[in-house]
Amino acid sequence: MFSMLRDAVGAMPWLILAMSQLTNAACECGYSVNSTSGNQFASYTDLMENDFLHTVVDNITEAGWRVQVYNVSAEDARGPYGKQFELQNVESNPLKDKFSWSGDSENGGDPGLRLWVRGDHSKGLVGGAEMASVRDDVLYGSFRVAMKLSSTSGTCGAFFWFYNNSQEIDMEFLSKEFNNSQGAVNLVMQTPMSVVHGYDASNTSAFKIQALPFRPDEKVHEYRFDWAPGSVNFFVDGAWVYEMTENIPVDAGRMFMNHWSNGDPLWSAGPPGADTSMSVTYVKSYFNTTNTAKNDAYKKRCANWNATQVCQIPDQTVAPDPSGADGNKTANTYFFTLDGDDHAPGQEVFKTTNGASSLFASSSFSIYIPVIVALFSWAFAL
Ligand SMILES: *[C@@H]1O[C@H](CO)[C@@H](O)[C@H](O)[C@H]1NC(C)=O
Ligand SMILES: *[C@@H]1O[C@H](CO)[C@@H](O)[C@H](O)[C@H]1NC(C)=O
Ligand SMILES: *[C@@H]1O[C@H](CO)[C@@H](O)[C@H](O)[C@H]1NC(C)=O
Ligand SMILES: *[C@@H]1O[C@H](CO)[C@@H](O)[C@H](O)[C@H]1NC(C)=O
Ligand SMILES: *[C@@H]1O[C@H](CO)[C@@H](O)[C@H](O)[C@H]1NC(C)=O
Ligand SMILES: *[C@@H]1O[C@H](CO)[C@@H](O)[C@H](O)[C@H]1NC(C)=O
Ligand SMILES: *[C@@H]1O[C@H](CO)[C@@H](O)[C@H](O)[C@H]1NC(C)=O
Ligand SMILES: *[C@@H]1O[C@H](CO)[C@@H](O)[C@H](O)[C@H]1NC(C)=O
Ligand SMILES: *[C@@H]1O[C@H](CO)[C@@H](O)[C@H](O)[C@H]1NC(C)=O
Repeated sequence: MFSMLRDAVGAMPWLILAMSQLTNAACECGYSVNSTSGNQFASYTDLMENDFLHTVVDNITEAGWRVQVYNVSAEDARGPYGKQFELQNVESNPLKDKFSWSGDSENGGDPGLRLWVRGDHSKGLVGGAEMASVRDDVLYGSFRVAMKLSSTSGTCGAFFWFYNNSQEIDMEFLSKEFNNSQGAVNLVMQTPMSVVHGYDASNTSAFKIQALPFRPDEKVHEYRFDWAPGSVNFFVDGAWVYEMTENIPVDAGRMFMNHWSNGDPLWSAGPPGADTSMSVTYVKSYFNTTNTAKNDAYKKRCANWNATQVCQIPDQTVAPDPSGADGNKTANTYFFTLDGDDHAPGQEVFKTTNGASSLFASSSFSIYIPVIVALFSWAFAL
């Protein structure tokens, strides 16, 4: 009897150790680009992941984003048309089968979050869509979007980070640049230099028209930029394409996506004569924060930094496209926030239809005072 008790007590520290290993969350010390066992890596404390193939966004603020609602006059938009960013131009269109990564969408057409540009511009304004992250504390990170662009010539679709008009990192797609075999992405940084040049970055080191070996309107591809102190590197389907090292932003800002047209023949061109959309299947951001509470929480869960508690962010190396025969495999990409074991301790986790959580309950968006971003026509000097 006594000896049995003694044995049980003796076994306890071992048990507690085993249990704490089982119940511990992973990734307490953050997320890294490259393995921490190598000598070249960057690590980040926070993440924000959206699986738009399985997100029903009745209230998109519950998924970390706000739809921006505002008008820009033709004069301010520097084009023949003004821009009208509207609520109804952001559409949630998840897959019908919540356990699959390909197949029919709820509303038909490309699955994901759709950002529409409207064909009716009889009132002098072209309807467009814009979203801004609720988080405005994003300072350095690795930012990834999977999307398929519009195939109608005359729109600009963009994924970007914004602090102000001289600190901005953009990946912009002009559908007029997609031709029979190829496409392009405009890699742009707004810097104090481009402000001096009247918001024209085209003659600065912060502008690059990157040719792509495919049409961005045919499939979903992953577009990514890694912003670190002193550099911004751009990637397409995980392959590095370009680096910028001058006038790198140093303040914290927000993530954005938009799709618009103002008819400027030198930039967006158009406007299109019929409604056209771009579809976003995911956004994955791994970043550091300037938020004091979030940094304190990080220091608590990662009291002693240990490389084994940093999770490596998997590199996406193929187009994560849901169409085609292998769609259910290729579009099934990794999300820390969907990992059964808790791989997102202390992070904001957004609900999806294939997770355990239910659909969003509220039926309307909230409208906020928009953050006015000025995506001017950088190309007018070209
Ligand atoms: C990741 O590793 C590659 C080489 O494999 C290197 O070029 C790159 O700079 C590394 N990234 C970071 C953020 O250190
Ligand atoms: C992000 O913050 C963590 C924790 O402070 C730090 O260890 C890491 O080096 C930072 N990453 C970059 C790229 O500055
Ligand atoms: C949408 O969600 C946000 C965040 O949870 C909440 O603050 C807001 O009240 C919601 N809006 C509506 C209309 O339910
Ligand atoms: C934008 O302009 C349209 C047309 O004049 C108007 O109906 C709408 O209310 C305006 N929207 C905002 C947010 O001012
Ligand atoms: C797609 O793959 C998932 C597993 O990731 C599976 O549960 C589902 O049944 C598959 N769907 C189809 C249509 O094959
Ligand atoms: C952006 O913010 C920086 C730092 O606060 C400031 O120096 C710069 O003038 C701002 N740029 C614009 C265009 O307002
Ligand atoms: C671009 O910069 C170069 C060198 O500073 C200058 O010679 C040229 O005139 C500029 N071009 C335009 C279109 O501003
Ligand atoms: C197609 O577009 C690419 C990138 O914009 C460009 O480099 C290429 O010359 C174009 N090809 C044709 C045939 O127009
Ligand atoms: C890091 O964690 C591992 C696994 O828990 C442990 O074996 C190692 O001793 C820790 N390293 C440090 C420096 O604390």
